[in-house]
Amino acid sequence: MVEDVDLDEPKAGEVLVKIGAAGVCRSDRHFMHGDANIALPAVLGHEGAGTVEKVGPGVTLTKPGDQVILSFVPACGRCKSCLEGNSNLCDLHMATGPFMLDGTTRLHKGGKDIHHMGKVACFAEYAVVPETGCIPTNSGISMDKAAMIGCCVPTGVGATMFSAKVQPGSTVAVVGCGGVGLNVIMGAKLLNASQIIAVDIRESQLEFAMKFGATHSVNAADRDPVAQVKELTGGRGADYTFEVFGSAETVKASYDMCAKSGTVTVVGIAPMGAEASINAVDLVRNEKTLRGTYYGSARGRTDMPTMVDLYLSGRLNLDDLVVRHYSLDQINEAYGDMDEGEVGRGAIMFN
Ligand code: APR
Ligand code: ZN
Repeated sequence: MVEDVDLDEPKAGEVLVKIGAAGVCRSDRHFMHGDANIALPAVLGHEGAGTVEKVGPGVTLTKPGDQVILSFVPACGRCKSCLEGNSNLCDLHMATGPFMLDGTTRLHKGGKDIHHMGKVACFAEYAVVPETGCIPTNSGISMDKAAMIGCCVPTGVGATMFSAKVQPGSTVAVVGCGGVGLNVIMGAKLLNASQIIAVDIRESQLEFAMKFGATHSVNAADRDPVAQVKELTGGRGADYTFEVFGSAETVKASYDMCAKSGTVTVVGIAPMGAEASINAVDLVRNEKTLRGTYYGSARGRTDMPTMVDLYLSGRLNLDDLVVRHYSLDQINEAYGDMDEGEVGRGAIMFN
């Protein structure tokens, strides 16, 4: 539902951003459908980019006029997770959730507080965000590409680069080839995997995945994807498998199709309470590693500018990734297209 709400001025350490583009990501859909919880009412949207309009007191990391990519984990830089280099898991951010870092909201209507998804809330013309969640690029890249670097690019490429650390010449299987999965495929290509097997239930997604570096495809709707991946890898399974949909079933399939001494990386967020059973003996005897990754285990402030550079140097094909543009009024249509299984990423554009 699109409606007018009140947005406060930025407080100390906060920034008012005029949103340029917001990506249509499945994570928002999880909240819309109750597969994940957020305090309500809330403004969703967590994959965004825009231009700094105004800064609050004490802001030093950005200034009015900067083109910025928004991070849905604005890292405090002081907590244990941040100090250990895992700023994607910032303790202060996790503790304050859909509130600003001081525990209050800047969004209101009729005296009621409205929550900010990921402290971004970019399905709106303007957003107030923590300065640490604003990553200036000033690269002049188009706003839709910049928005992608706010979520699906670091999440997908980061999963291969910072979490799994895919080795050259290795084999990779990617289960779920939507906006995030395509970025996993691009990451695997960038890291010189020899074989990149796209797995999806839709033929259109599999065909589209070839544009981003997939070398083989497996239609999981036709036949057991585990058997198909094993056939393509000489019976071994893939060295690195990635789950990029978010369900117990696909987590299990990703585990089962992983090779001896391989690594299973779970990127997708399954519905709350989902439990995937894995073969406990196989885990040990085949020395598999099973790991989750949040935000691609990327550190926004340093890794997002790297993603911009990789795009500018032609190593990341973000031009083919964003295939649909919508106005904010068309947001339900945008999520309808995701449900229909349209390929690639959609972006809500603001001007
Ligand atoms: N096996 C393989 N692929 C599947 C299956 C299945 N059983 N079910 C669905 N898919 C495919 C869909 O056809 C689609 O191509 O998974 C893909 C999911 O893509 P999107 O809907 O574009 O979702 P995306 O935004 O990429 O997010 C994927 O990552 O960050 C998380 O919260 C996010 O859990 C979500 C996941
Ligand atoms: Zn997202």
